[in-house]
Amino acid sequence: MNPRERIPIAADHAGFEMKEKLERVLEELGYDVKDLGTDTADSSDYPDFAHPLAQEISSGEAKRGVLLCGTGLGMSYVANRYPGVRAAVVWSRDIAELSRRHNDANILVLPSRCISDEESVAILKTWLDTPFEGGRHERRVDKIERPAGTA
Ligand code: RB5
Repeated sequence: MNPRERIPIAADHAGFEMKEKLERVLEELGYDVKDLGTDTADSSDYPDFAHPLAQEISSGEAKRGVLLCGTGLGMSYVANRYPGVRAAVVWSRDIAELSRRHNDANILVLPSRCISDEESVAILKTWLDTPFEGGRHERRVDKIERPAGTA
């Protein structure tokens, strides 16, 4: 791990509490955490937080990021509209590992209403520590940005 890798993290109200806990975990692990909100448990709209974070990953400003909402779905819909973003909704350590090994996911999306705090920590750590396998998976990941019929 690069101990000073900057990791942006964001959530809507549904993911707010879990985000705060995961921020502390990331800091303990030595990451430079950038909190992109939300800052309260008051009702909010997930796209307002997914867009800025996805832009950071798409532009290369940050290599990896973390998003949270109730199901993970809304955040992933927004983030996956950006070129180069591969946002994976992850609800188990197995999926966390595969999303990295096979899909080179660069945004971890956590469904805060569907997993426990303990699971979120285990998923996060597994996701951060698992490398991309490359090889045949690299060919497939490359094709994500190339619709059928394009070179
Ligand atoms: C908020 O109630 C909820 O809809 C949101 O967090 C998320 O699950 C959307 O996909």
